[in-house]
Order: sequence, then C-alpha cells, then structure tokens
Amino acid sequence: MKLYSILSLLGFVSAATAGFVTVEDDGNFYENDKRYIVWGANYWEAMNLGAQKTGNRSRLVNDLNKMKSMHINNLRIIAGSEGPTDSQKPLNVLMPEPGVYNEDMFKGLDYTLYQMKKRNMKAVMVLNNFWQWSGGFSQYVSWVKNTTIPLPPGYPENDPRAQSSWDEFINHSAEFYTCKKCIDLWKNHIKTVINRRNVYTGKRYRDDDTIFSWEFANEPRQNNDGSMPMTDEFIEDISGYIKSLDKNHMVTLGSEAHPMFGRDVFLRENNHKNLDYTTTHIWVQNWNEYDPKNKTEANLQHAIDYCINHLRDTAGWALKINKPIIFEEYGMARDGWDGQDEYDPTTPATNRLKYYKAILDEVYRLTDKQIFQGQNFWAYSGEGRPASGEHRDLYLGDPAHEHPGWYGIYDKDTDMINYLKKMGKKFLNLE
Ligand SMILES: *[C@@H]1O[C@H](CO)[C@@H](O)[C@H](O)[C@H]1NC(C)=O
Ligand SMILES: *[C@@H]1O[C@H](CO)[C@@H](O)[C@H](O)[C@H]1NC(C)=O
Ligand SMILES: *[C@@H]1O[C@H](CO)[C@@H](O)[C@H](O)[C@H]1NC(C)=O
Ligand SMILES: *[C@@H]1O[C@H](CO)[C@@H](O)[C@H](O)[C@H]1NC(C)=O
Repeated sequence: MKLYSILSLLGFVSAATAGFVTVEDDGNFYENDKRYIVWGANYWEAMNLGAQKTGNRSRLVNDLNKMKSMHINNLRIIAGSEGPTDSQKPLNVLMPEPGVYNEDMFKGLDYTLYQMKKRNMKAVMVLNNFWQWSGGFSQYVSWVKNTTIPLPPGYPENDPRAQSSWDEFINHSAEFYTCKKCIDLWKNHIKTVINRRNVYTGKRYRDDDTIFSWEFANEPRQNNDGSMPMTDEFIEDISGYIKSLDKNHMVTLGSEAHPMFGRDVFLRENNHKNLDYTTTHIWVQNWNEYDPKNKTEANLQHAIDYCINHLRDTAGWALKINKPIIFEEYGMARDGWDGQDEYDPTTPATNRLKYYKAILDEVYRLTDKQIFQGQNFWAYSGEGRPASGEHRDLYLGDPAHEHPGWYGIYDKDTDMINYLKKMGKKFLNLE
C-alpha cells in the first residue's frame, strides 16, 4: 500500500491535495495511488469556445460530452494567446496587449476547467507557443523589439503579409530565449495564470487538480542550425519559477523530440530537475514522410513504420533520463487521392484510421511497458466545421494558419470515434 493510501485511511490527506498527478519512483504517473494513463486529445480552442461573449459554450459542452464518451480524460489546451489580430491567429486572444487581459477569454478558460472538472478530465495548460498561430514567442519578441513578425506562408494562401521563409520566422521566434524583457513579460503572464482564481469554482489554478501540468509552450525548439538554442539557463529559470509559484503541478517543455535535432538535444533539454516528464510529436506529412495524394499501400506503410521507429527511439531517450513520456501530438490528413479534397469534412479518412490503429497499438505496448504514459491525438474539432476569414472564430482543432479541416476529427467521423472509444477503454484498463 502506498503512503498516500495509509495517510488517507488515517484521515491525514486533505481534500485539497487529492487528485494532483505526480511522477512516482517507478517512473509512471499516479493520481493518488492509482496509475494515471493519459487518454487525451488536443483541444486548443477550449478557451476561445468557453468565452461567453465571443465563444460558443453549447458547442464546448457538447464536445466535452462526446469526448467523455470516448473515455478521454486529458485535454491539451492553450492558456495564453497574445497580440493584435492577424490572418494566422484567432480573432480573440487572452492578452491583446502586454499585461492587458481580455476577461471574457479568461472566463472562457475558467469555464473550460469548471466543465472539465465535472467530467473528471485534466488539462495540460500550454503557456506559450513557438509558432505564430496564437501569438507566442514571436509576438513577445515583436512587442519588446518593435519588429514586424516575419510570417511564413500558410493559410489563407498567397497572403501578401505572410511571405517570409520558415527559417526566417524560426529565427525571429528563437530570439525569445535570450530576450530578457520578453521573458520577464512572459513570467508576469505565468504568475497571473497560476494565481488566477476561477470565477466559477472559486479555486485558484495552482490549487486546482483539474490541471494536469504546466507546459512551457507548444513545440519550443532551437533554430534550424542550432545557433539559437533553448538554453539550459532559460529552462532552469522558467521551470524553477513555475515550481516556486506552484508545487502542486507537474511541469514539462512541450517539445517535439524532433528527429532533426536528435537524441542529444532531447536529453539536454529535458534533463532538468524541475521538469517532470517529456513529450514527443510526430508529423509524417509535415516532415515529408507521407503524401496524402498517394493512395498506395506503400505510402501509408512508410508513414506507419517511420512513426513507430521514432516512438521507439524516443522511448529509449526518455528511459535514459528516467522520465515518463507522452505521445502528445500526431495526425493525418483525410484521403486526398482521386481528386478529393483532403480538407473537406465529407472526404473519407480511411488512411487516418489505419494509421491511428497501427501506431496506437505501438503506443499501447509502450504504455503497458510503463515507458510511455499515453497519448493526445491532434486534434478534436467536434461540432466545428471549416470556416475562414472573419468567420474563422468558429474554431477547429486546426489552427488559423493551417488549412481548415487538415487534421481535426469531427463528431461525425463515426468510425474514428468508435475506434477511439474502444481503444480508450483498453488504455484505461492499464490504470
Ligand atoms: C455554436 O456551435 C454550433 C455547433 O456546435 C453551431 O451550430 C452554432 O451555430 C454555433 N453558434 C455560434 C453563435 O457560433
Ligand atoms: C516602432 O517601429 C515603427 C515602424 O518601424 C516606428 O514607426 C515606431 O516609432 C516604433 N516605435 C517605437 C516605440 O520605437
Ligand atoms: C537564421 O539564422 C541563422 C544563424 O544566424 C543564419 O545562418 C540564417 O541565415 C538565418 N536565416 C534567415 C532566413 O535569415
Ligand atoms: C507513392 O509512395 C510510394 C512509397 O513511398 C512511392 O514509392 C511512390 O513513388 C509514390 N508514388 C507517387 C506517385 O508519388
């Protein structure tokens, strides 16, 4: 019997400390004395949907109910978005100007956590973004240095304001790591969120066991040639700062474990005492390992093999530093062959389902072996449907800079939903 159970039998454990997920000596997640498996989705749009004035609470509630029916217990959501409107960002953000909050949006986050708590779900709270689609690092850099963000081409296509190269954008974003004023501004945000008192539950976020962890950012990474790394100093500073404000919750980077940067970068970045666990993201199409316009079996099989190999590699990397790992992002486009549109909600997604089945079998094996701790697929779009331009605030799992409908799973993707229901039950039996 674990210490927790003995203490709770003796009545020593206060209700306030119950329910936080921690990493125990065996390298697994535990909630109280039970292994906690992450059976999760990416659902970044939760805060935007939860906003009373500009969101869509009935959709949020329906989406949460549907995800609950898929046994989903963990949602990765954004807890920070910044800056003025541009074409690659949602219309509404949490912090439109430095230190100025949109209270309607903050209540959207409150409402999300309140509704998640009712459904016994936990949130990975993503505090920043390496990419432009929520503001993120490049927005902080732009605020502090008064520079224009060099937006790369994306969606909408041929936007004259978005014609910089990815390399240039990445360099701009990576300036964040050494921009002291940017980091100070961000620390103020971190403090504001951690100390936030939820208007619906009365609870401060730091005391709320609906929160699973604080994540630095979505996919923080070095620039392409490694000359602008995410420094150890930066990692120590931010992880220590979060722990100084909140000892209840776990902390992680949110990085991809990108094969382009490899094992040594992963080990260096993750091997810090205040980081509790590691993550990996695998994007076969974005990394040119899958072509949605190629209907051959060999094309799909290549993507599956590639993904499984990388999962096994990262499992080894995580073991090396004795930290748990979550398969935190992955996805596949709808079938784009025979002239179909791979973004159209009515296009079948048969390869996606085959891909999920093949790779989730491997994630299950690695979770059963107690190396991986589960997954968050990208992404749940629920009752959302593609829209663009001034209607893009209808919010899909696909963020504004990407083609609407690329990776998101809709409530009407019945085969996928049924598969996820079945597989969720199997994963949660490992608890
Ligand atoms: C809210 O979402 C539903 C789908 O869940 C949609 O039918 C409805 O039009 C949306 N309402 C608003 C105000 O956007
Ligand atoms: C910021 O840059 C713009 C355009 O280059 C310039 O007009 C403005 O004066 C600058 N603002 C500050 C505070 O330096
Ligand atoms: C990005 O930064 C690296 C290192 O300074 C530099 O070599 C490269 O040319 C930069 N890329 C662009 C597009 O400016
Ligand atoms: C489809 O993918 C397979 C496997 O990667 C490859 O051998 C083949 O050349 C591709 N076909 C086309 C038309 O791209």
